Amino acid sequence: MSGMFRSYDARFSVAPMMDWTDRRCRAFHRILTRRARLYTEMVTADAVVFGPRERLIGFDAAEHPVALQLGGAEPGRLAEAARIGAAFGYDEINLNCGCPSDRVQSGRFGACLMREPEVVAECVAAMAAAADIPVTVKCRIGVDEQEPREALFAFADAVKAAGATALIVHARKALLDGLSPKDNRSIPPLDHALVHELKRAHAHWPIILNGGLPDLAAARPHLEDLDGIMLGRAAYQNPELLIGVDPELFGEPAPVADGFEAIEAFLPAIARGLERGERLHDYTRHLHGLFAGRPGARAFRQVLATEAGKRGAGLEVVRDAVSRVGREWRLVAAAE
Ligand SMILES: Cc1cc2nc3c(=O)[nH]c(=O)nc-3n(C[C@H](O)[C@H](O)[C@H](O)COP(=O)(O)O)c2cc1C
Repeated sequence: MSGMFRSYDARFSVAPMMDWTDRRCRAFHRILTRRARLYTEMVTADAVVFGPRERLIGFDAAEHPVALQLGGAEPGRLAEAARIGAAFGYDEINLNCGCPSDRVQSGRFGACLMREPEVVAECVAAMAAAADIPVTVKCRIGVDEQEPREALFAFADAVKAAGATALIVHARKALLDGLSPKDNRSIPPLDHALVHELKRAHAHWPIILNGGLPDLAAARPHLEDLDGIMLGRAAYQNPELLIGVDPELFGEPAPVADGFEAIEAFLPAIARGLERGERLHDYTRHLHGLFAGRPGARAFRQVLATEAGKRGAGLEVVRDAVSRVGREWRLVAAAE
């Protein structure tokens, strides 16, 4: 399966998001688009090397193309984690140099690595030597008082020279003192233009833009110059957006027509999870953003939020929730 995706095509990806893009979420996103590149939540290199591997990084073959995002700053440990990730069948290993949380800083990795491009370069070189798949980096445009043009361009030069296949840029600074991780995703201003400028300096090296892209219509024009666009919150909070990815960005038919079909196609995976003893809510929490704007969307969410967490809750809860959503809305919209 992964062989089909050996060449690096990151035209569209869904961002790594802690607590959100777990394997169940990715399985659902894959129903909505065959072509989007999907990312795991960040997993630390230590956890991959020493932790319960199958639980932490196990994934389903249907998820390809899928990238494992690692956190760490120690070349040897990251190389070992990258080797393990490649052996698991991941299509890409990505190094997190953009996450600003305290927990991450105390481990000296994440966004604070923007200050240490030479360390990141060592890590990338070690990972690329250990894993026979693309190794990429996700970064910010700088941290704290750094001048973004200098910081980002120096960082890009270093990781490219070290062998990174691509660079994903969340186009805002991270402020490491005083802002929560959440505020760090909205308060520092976006600078998409700087990422375009970076691309002009690296014509033959893939650069992917992330940050504040609200939908495909807004994201698509960036593809005229850049190699890829990565959406995080917009894709998670409005998953139907992903149905447009294959037709609009790849010229291929959409795998499903709408959220109704997507849920129907997801039911077998949910049923298998329930048989393994997983909770319904672990699956349905990733569906809450469906049906935005349709009559009944709120009732849909409410049924899932109140019923899916109950002991023994099964597929009937999903069917009940779906039955609250107005289907005629699409017909009306289509007729207009
Ligand atoms: C809930 C949540 C968790 C996140 N976890 C990660 C993470 O594990 N690794 C990472 O590189 N970025 C993480 N991010 C940042 C996103 O990958 C992305 O860079 C950011 O949300 C900006 O893109 P957006 O505006 O399209 O959401 C997270 C974002 C959110 C909202």
